[in-house]
Amino acid sequence: MVHGTLRMMETVVSGIRPTGNLHLGNYFGALKNFVKMQNENTCYFFIADYHSLTTHPTPADLHGNVKTVLAEFLAAGLDPEKATIYIQSELPETAELYLLLNMNAYVGELERCTSFKEKIRTQPDNVNAGLLTYPTLMAADIIIHKAHKVPVGKDQEQHLEMTRTFANRFNRMYKVEYFPEPQAYNFGEELVKIPGLDGSMKMSKSDNESSAIFLADAPDVIRRKIMRATTDTGPTAPDSPKAQAVQNLFTLMEDFSSKETYEHFDLLYRTCQIRYGDMKKQLAEDIIKFTTPIRDEILRISSDEAYISKVARLGAEKAHASASKTIREVREIIGFRKF
Ligand code: TYM
Repeated sequence: MVHGTLRMMETVVSGIRPTGNLHLGNYFGALKNFVKMQNENTCYFFIADYHSLTTHPTPADLHGNVKTVLAEFLAAGLDPEKATIYIQSELPETAELYLLLNMNAYVGELERCTSFKEKIRTQPDNVNAGLLTYPTLMAADIIIHKAHKVPVGKDQEQHLEMTRTFANRFNRMYKVEYFPEPQAYNFGEELVKIPGLDGSMKMSKSDNESSAIFLADAPDVIRRKIMRATTDTGPTAPDSPKAQAVQNLFTLMEDFSSKETYEHFDLLYRTCQIRYGDMKKQLAEDIIKFTTPIRDEILRISSDEAYISKVARLGAEKAHASASKTIREVREIIGFRKF
């Protein structure tokens, strides 16, 4: 018998929608934590292809994007021996739990969700029921494995709050302590939000392609995108506050460059001597240094279809083992046929 602290393995679940290549926001908000967490937890990481149907992709786009994201998961360092890596639609138990949770999710609370209100504003011609019930599907993804921790970026915080509401409601309704309360997670630190190159608060692929830097971008593409990033005419008085777009570049520099580099350019800004061109050149090189090894792996793994499909098959089996147990127990708690 080995003495020492016996730590319960916690369950970790998270997913990313297959809407194209992954960008630096996806990496720092989610994927980087997936890779760190796989060593010490029971992890389930999936590609949220059901969720991506709210924007009606063509079958060819959907198929290609799922494969891309799977290859990028592996290239970033996810290990199919350590974590269960699967495709959401290959786990139909999720869809069943989603249906059951929808019975106890109120239209009012779903309508109040910030991401739903945002969709009404940005895509008024496609306000489908899948968008309204997006948070219940996400809750089903998470609690199907009875997760404790969910590594996500800041934009998903409210969805996690709703997940806790649905899990607790189920427990209360059936007078059971069945589902744990999952928490959004980023290694004990604040959840992160990587800003866009166009001055937007959040790097995102849907709004403007050139506002995002993708892990798979070639060095020249990264240089071009950063050189074109929005700035202003420069500070005219010492210690001026930074405009949002300028602040975004500094935030990226904080994330990717050395402390000395950041402080050097910050001092130039504060003393009105900054030349954004120089700062951008440095930032581009620092980002390229970071993305190059991942990009090389993406290129290598993407060409190995047999491996990618083996990973998906193995992941679906392992995910099924966990999800089918939950569904069996949930059905019993609800009172479906036992005889
Ligand atoms: P999605 O596909 O939009 O984003 C995937 C992950 O990347 C994070 N992220 C960011 N983090 C920091 N800065 C950014 N600029 C940035 N942009 C994206 C997101 O926070 C997320 O962690 N609904 C989810 C997918 C999902 C899911 C789940 C996540 C479906 N079911 C269950 C966790 C658990 C989404 O659309 O993420």
